[in-house]
Amino acid sequence: MSGNAFSLKDIGDIQNDVLDEISQAGSLQVLEELRVRWLGRKGIVQDYLKNLGTLSKEERPVAGKVINELKDAVKTALEVSANGFQASETIRRLNDEKIDITLPGVRRNFGRIHPITKAMASILEIFIELGFSVKEGPEIETEYYNFEALNIPENHPARDMQDTFYVNGGWVLRTHTSPIQIRVMENNPPPLRFIAPGKAFRSDPPDASHTPMFHQVEGLFVDEGVHFGHLKYILDVFAKKMFGEKVRLRFRPSFFPFTEPSAEVDISCIICKGKGCRVCSRTGWLEILGAGMVDPEVFKAVDIDSERYTGFAFGMGIERIAMLKYGINDIRLFFENDKRFLDQF
Ligand code: DAH
Repeated sequence: MSGNAFSLKDIGDIQNDVLDEISQAGSLQVLEELRVRWLGRKGIVQDYLKNLGTLSKEERPVAGKVINELKDAVKTALEVSANGFQASETIRRLNDEKIDITLPGVRRNFGRIHPITKAMASILEIFIELGFSVKEGPEIETEYYNFEALNIPENHPARDMQDTFYVNGGWVLRTHTSPIQIRVMENNPPPLRFIAPGKAFRSDPPDASHTPMFHQVEGLFVDEGVHFGHLKYILDVFAKKMFGEKVRLRFRPSFFPFTEPSAEVDISCIICKGKGCRVCSRTGWLEILGAGMVDPEVFKAVDIDSERYTGFAFGMGIERIAMLKYGINDIRLFFENDKRFLDQF
């Protein structure tokens, strides 16, 4: 056809033929071949346009219009057919890749809050509500902060009770959170009211109630006129919020080098309500913490005037509280990372 003169009537026939051909094309690939043949840079339509010059001046605009109409008609027909192919391709793929919603899904493993973290958060929340702030201190301490400043001199038997991991050069892994008392009192004048949570370490062989690493919360309240009644009140509020309104408290005289007088504090057994059972060794009571009035020797170490100020302190083991609260009978369970245990919290 190239280079030939043509008549407008021919073009009308040609258009019908090519549209037929397009409607019969069996694939996107055939459509693409038709597109190149008719609309490509070296295609038939382009050829016609080139040949316009062979026509008379009068014929030319009419022929140009007819060729453009042919071009538009072919273009539209190609697009419509291509869309049709694409739609059926999409439907085919959707059918192939159909999701079977009756299959069980893949279960994701969500992390959980560790029971110790949970118990710690409950304890902190109660004391924060009572106006205590939260302080922290280093886990590696000097012997001075861990022992001496707390009125535990070298060779004092209390050091044996807290046998610890010694690091070279007078450093120890702290055996309790009590050194935080000293650090805070050294740097802040009374009045002081804070709790200090954290890890503590002792070289105890692991058994049902000991692990070499455990957690404590220390508490300190220093101001003018603070007395033992305040201590009893605060601990009573704490125990009731933690273990329930029916819980009763018992203070037993005890000894700590950093408090005088000192007490060990029990709650009525939350299992048998004080009647006596296996958990409370038939006593009806469960020990939960140590406490007392800050010893004037401790105030002396941090340069607080013990004639003017008095204070109370307490310290409790988080694992012990968590074991009582959640009914756990072996402390080692906390640190074995057994998901069957941890998933219960
Ligand atoms: N530091 C003691 C311990 O680890 C616990 C303790 C007892 C802390 C009495 C205190 C306290 O602040 O007053 O065994």
